[in-house]
This record gives sequence, structure tokens and C-alpha cells, in this order.
Amino acid sequence: MNKKLFSLLTVLSMTALTGCQPDTPAKQAEQPAAAPAVAAPVPVAAEPSAQVAAPVSKELQLAQASKCFACHAIDKKLVGPGWKEVATKYRGQKGAEAKLIDKVAKGGSGAWGAVPMPPNAPQVAQNDIKTLVRYILGLK
Ligand code: HEC
Repeated sequence: MNKKLFSLLTVLSMTALTGCQPDTPAKQAEQPAAAPAVAAPVPVAAEPSAQVAAPVSKELQLAQASKCFACHAIDKKLVGPGWKEVATKYRGQKGAEAKLIDKVAKGGSGAWGAVPMPPNAPQVAQNDIKTLVRYILGLK
């Protein structure tokens, strides 16, 4: 028998048996239908854990080293206000950055209550205070 004719007959007979398209019977039979749907959620689930790793930023390390976290937390009040709350209070206010740099350096009370923040300068460098205040004001 002619080879070409033989393969044509093979395809035709498989088509008759499986009811599939002549050029894809093997492929369709192999493919587990659910595989793409099962694989899809994996990258989505991986994203939040990437964000959990992100907070060990330069700014957080600086805040840690500057002992700010003795009295502050990012999203709750301790001795001083939570930093996200600080960001919310001053969002969009002109001059907030300069005012807060001065406040963190010199300390003071009255903005959040009677408990004063002690001066953080000169033990924390002016440039570091600026970095920290910019970081705090950028929190959401
Ligand atoms: C000994 C405790 C203490 C430490 C240490 C401390 N803070 Fe504070 N912080 C406070 C208190 C209390 C307030 C609230 C002051 C007020 O009501 O005016 C405050 C307020 C603030 C505010 C808001 C100020 C305002 O006028 O709204 C910022 C910004 C701030 N702190 C940043 C820092 C940074 C940055 C550091 C580290 C370099 C730091 N704090 C270290 C206790 C502290």
C-alpha cells in the first residue's frame, strides 16, 4: 500500500473512532482539560507574599535605627500617633514637610495630645529626619 494513502486511512479511521478533527486527535486526547485553570491562580497568590517582603525598606531600617519605633508604629497609635494617621492628617498641606522635619528634630506636643515627643536631633541626622518625614507623609 502507498504510504501516503495508509496514513490518510489511519487518520480517517481515528477520526471515525474518536469523532475528533482529522489533524488533532492525538493532541486533544492528551490534553487534561483542567490544567490551565489550575495553574492560573499560582502567580496571583504569589503577589501578596512579594508585598509582605517589601516593607524591609531602607526607610524602615532607618526608622528602626533612629529609635522612632520605641514610640511609633506604622498603622496604630503607641506613645505617638500611627504614621499612616500622620500622613492622612497632613496630606495635601503646604509646608507640612518642613514643619514636621522641625518638629521631629526639636520635639514638642500639642498636635496629637499632651504627651510630648522628645527632640530627635542631633542624635538623628537632619538628612535622615528629612528622609523619614518624607517617608511618613508618603504612607497610605
Ligand atoms: C519618646 C517617644 C517618641 C520617639 C522616640 C519619637 N516620637 Fe514621634 N511623636 C511622639 C509623640 C508623643 C508625638 C505626638 C506629639 C504631639 O502631639 O504634638 C509624636 C509625633 C510625631 C510626628 C507628628 C508630629 C506632628 O506635629 O503632627 C511625627 C512625624 C513623628 N512623631 C515622627 C517621629 C520620627 C521620624 C521619630 C524617629 C526619628 C520619632 N517620631 C520618634 C513620640 C515619639
